[in-house]
Amino acid sequence: MTSYQSYLYQISTAAILSIYSLTTLAAPDQTLVNLGNALYNDTQLSNNGTQSCATCHNPKHGFIDNRDNGVKGAGSLGDDGHSIGDRNAPTAAYASLSPAFHFDTKSQKYKGGQFHDGRETDLKGQAGGPPTNPIEMGMKDKAALVKKLQNNPFYVQSFTSLFGKDIFSDVDQAYLAMTKSIAAFESTTEFAPFDSKYDRYLKGEYTLTDHEELGRSLFFSNNNTNCATCHQLKASEDQTGETFTNYEYHNIGTPKNTALRSKNGKSSTHIDHGLLENPAITDQQHDGKFKVPTLRNIAVTGPYMHNGVFQELSTVLAFYDKFNNKKRHLNPENKQPWNAAEVPATVNKKDLKAKKLTDAKMAALEAFLRTLTDKRFEHLLK
Ligand code: HEC
Ligand code: HEC
Repeated sequence: MTSYQSYLYQISTAAILSIYSLTTLAAPDQTLVNLGNALYNDTQLSNNGTQSCATCHNPKHGFIDNRDNGVKGAGSLGDDGHSIGDRNAPTAAYASLSPAFHFDTKSQKYKGGQFHDGRETDLKGQAGGPPTNPIEMGMKDKAALVKKLQNNPFYVQSFTSLFGKDIFSDVDQAYLAMTKSIAAFESTTEFAPFDSKYDRYLKGEYTLTDHEELGRSLFFSNNNTNCATCHQLKASEDQTGETFTNYEYHNIGTPKNTALRSKNGKSSTHIDHGLLENPAITDQQHDGKFKVPTLRNIAVTGPYMHNGVFQELSTVLAFYDKFNNKKRHLNPENKQPWNAAEVPATVNKKDLKAKKLTDAKMAALEAFLRTLTDKRFEHLLK
C-alpha cells in the first residue's frame, strides 16, 4: 500500500468507526478519553515496557521529552535503550488544533498535519506511528501490540464496550481503536488549557509588565519583526484558540545538529529534507521546509528547532536577528559563527527580513514569549 492509499484507508475506516460509534454507543465520550489517557501513559505499549507516549511528551513538562538522553535533550532515546532519534520531540500540547495535512488553494501552500514534515495527516494517524517505530517504542508489529493490550482487563472491557465485542478479532480495527482513543485524550483541554498569562491578559485578568507589553507589540508589529507572518495567531478564521502558527512549511535556515549526529550515528553528511521527506511531496521547492511550530509553552520546551540545535530561547531570537543585524554574527552558545543552513537553497529570505533588534528589544520579545506558558508549567520557567 502506498502511503496515500493507507491514508485513504485510514480515513475510510475511521469514518466507519465514527458512524459505528454514533449509532451504537451509549457510553459518553469520557470513556473514550479515559481509555486514551490510560494508553497514553502505559509503558506496555513499548516492546520492553520502558516507555509510553508520556516518556517523550511528558504531561508534567510541557508535553516534551525532558530527558537529557546524552544529547542535551535534542533527540529522544528509544525503548531499546540505545537508539537516539534525529528530530526533537515537539510538544503534544495544542497539537489537536493543527488542521489535517492539506494543500491550501488560497495560499497555494501545504498546511497542517502532524510531525515536523506533516507526514501524518492527523492525531489518529500520528498515534499509530510510535508503537511500531523501531527507534521509538519498538513493538514488532500491530498484532503483537494488540495481543499485549488484551493482557489488561481494563482495556478488554473498554475496547469491547466502546468498539464492539469482536474488536480484538481484527488487528487493524483494534489498532485503529487504540489510536482513536489516544487522539481523543490528546484533544482534551488538558492538552490545550489556554490559561497562560497571555490568555489571562486577553480576558482582563492579568496586566502585562511594561517589558512584556513591549515584547507583545514588537511580536505583532510587521514594521519591526516578522514573527506573526508565520507564527500567526490562527491558521484560519474558524480555528478556536490562538496557537501562534499558520501551520505552513518554511525553511528558516536551521543548521544541522552535528553534536546530535555524532551521538545517534547519522552521518554528518545526512540531510533532513523536511517537507520533502513527506511521502506525499516530491517538488524540490519544498526541500528543507519544516512545519511552523506553536509558540505555546515555548519558554519551557527547549531545546529548539526540529533538531534541537539551540538550547536557549534567546539563541533562537539572536538567530532570527542575525538575518538583519551584523552584530549577531556569532552563535551565543558557542561564540562561533553560525553554521550554514542545512538546506541553503530554499531559505525564505523574504519573510526573514525585518528591522534589527537591540538587546533590550530582544529581551522584551523573550519576556513576551514567556507569557505563553500554561499556568501549570509556570513553575518550570527559569
Ligand atoms: C521515543 C520518543 C517518542 C515516543 C515514545 C513518542 N513520541 Fe511522539 N514524537 C517524537 C518525535 C521525535 C516526534 C517528531 C518526529 C518527526 O517529526 O519526525 C514526535 C511527534 C509527535 C507528535 C506531532 C506533534 C506536532 O506538532 O507535529 C505528536 C502529536 C506525538 N508525537 C504524539 C505521540 C503519541 C500519542 C505517542 C504514543 C503513542 C508518542 N508520540 C510517542 C517522539 C516520541
Ligand atoms: C518564515 C516564517 C517564520 C518567521 C518569519 C518566523 N518564524 Fe519562528 N519558526 C518558523 C519555522 C518553520 C520554525 C521551525 C524551524 C525548524 O524546526 O527548523 C520556527 C521555529 C521557531 C522557534 C522554535 C520553536 C520550537 O519549538 O523549537 C521559535 C521560538 C520561533 N520560531 C520564534 C519566532 C520569532 C520570535 C520570530 C520573529 C522574530 C519568528 N519565529 C519568525 C517559521 C518562522
